[in-house]
Amino acid sequence: MSMTAPILEVTGLKVEIPVRDTVLRPVRGIDISVAKGETVAIVGESGCGKSLTALAIMGLLPRQAKLTSERIDLNGESLSEASPRRWRKLRGDRIAMIFQDPMTALDPCYRIGDQMAEILKQHRKVSRSAARERSLELLRKVGIPSPEERLNQYPHQLSGGLRQRVMIAMALLCEPELIIADEPTTALDVTIQAQILRLLRDIQRETGIGLILITHDLGVVAGMADRIVVMYGGEVVEAGTCDDVLARPLHPYTEGLMRSIPVPGETRRGETLGFIPGVVPRQTGDLTRCGFLERCPYAHAPCAEGPIALRDAGDGHLMRCVLPADGSGRDPEAWTRQSEASS
Ligand SMILES: Nc1ncnc2c1ncn2[C@@H]1O[C@H](COP(=O)(O)OP(=O)(O)O)[C@@H](O)[C@H]1O
Ligand SMILES: [Mg+2]
Repeated sequence: MSMTAPILEVTGLKVEIPVRDTVLRPVRGIDISVAKGETVAIVGESGCGKSLTALAIMGLLPRQAKLTSERIDLNGESLSEASPRRWRKLRGDRIAMIFQDPMTALDPCYRIGDQMAEILKQHRKVSRSAARERSLELLRKVGIPSPEERLNQYPHQLSGGLRQRVMIAMALLCEPELIIADEPTTALDVTIQAQILRLLRDIQRETGIGLILITHDLGVVAGMADRIVVMYGGEVVEAGTCDDVLARPLHPYTEGLMRSIPVPGETRRGETLGFIPGVVPRQTGDLTRCGFLERCPYAHAPCAEGPIALRDAGDGHLMRCVLPADGSGRDPEAWTRQSEASS
């Protein structure tokens, strides 16, 4: 069978933001593609450039940010030069976004039903009653009890979990080809988190929508994603199928993220998890060596000899690291020594 053409194809995505004394380079040339029916997770700590990548794909970057990209194609249409007007037409219709905090996307002054009808009217010729029917249908689909009542309520009358369900319903209104969910459950408590993720997964599988799921929590992606893209310091440092990356993390940063996932039955309550000492550095200038060097327990001379290329370790599993892909050259005690040295 031939490969399905991707819904989204992004190559060489860069974002630069001039600040008072310098130019930040929070996104340094990202490639991402999403096929029909595929879920791609973008994973990395806070500050790695995940949200700016999402906003760039949505045409929603802050005004002062400068976007350059070899290519942003949505179902064959080139968007790298699209006008603000074109973006407004696409957003909510062919691509939709779900944010971490629904209160930033919902208008506190309007009833849920009116906000949903407004989105529909922007993109489709629909009557009032048809808009209401479609809204009800979607509120039901995302598991909201008494949807008729909810339509007449204001966002603050809903719990955080219900608001996030409303956001998902809104994203689905015009049957988009691609949804970008940026930390959609981070603000919710653990039980609700699991429910919302399951809902997103079920809807994604049922509709065949392409989904980009952004999270700082690698533990969230197992069972959700087909592929994982690990971002560090504005670059892709590892990418591959979910199974490959979780079973055989190749970049030390991914290893570090995995050490931070609690293991049910093994991690005791209150126990400190393995974490990665240090912070994501501020991104300016050109990289002249590995961006993860300062925090890497395996760092050695070759890591400083120049910027590290992203290479294929076999079967499309990509790594941006000089270590051998077979796991040799990694001392299992290195992480422990490093966290002891930093505490
Ligand atoms: N409007 C902005 N002005 C200046 N710096 C910004 C702006 N937005 C984001 N940044 C910086 O860019 C980096 C990446 O941000 P972001 O994409 O939000 O990271 P993530 O979503 O992975 O946490 C961060 O260091 C952040 O401080
Ligand atoms: Mg973010």
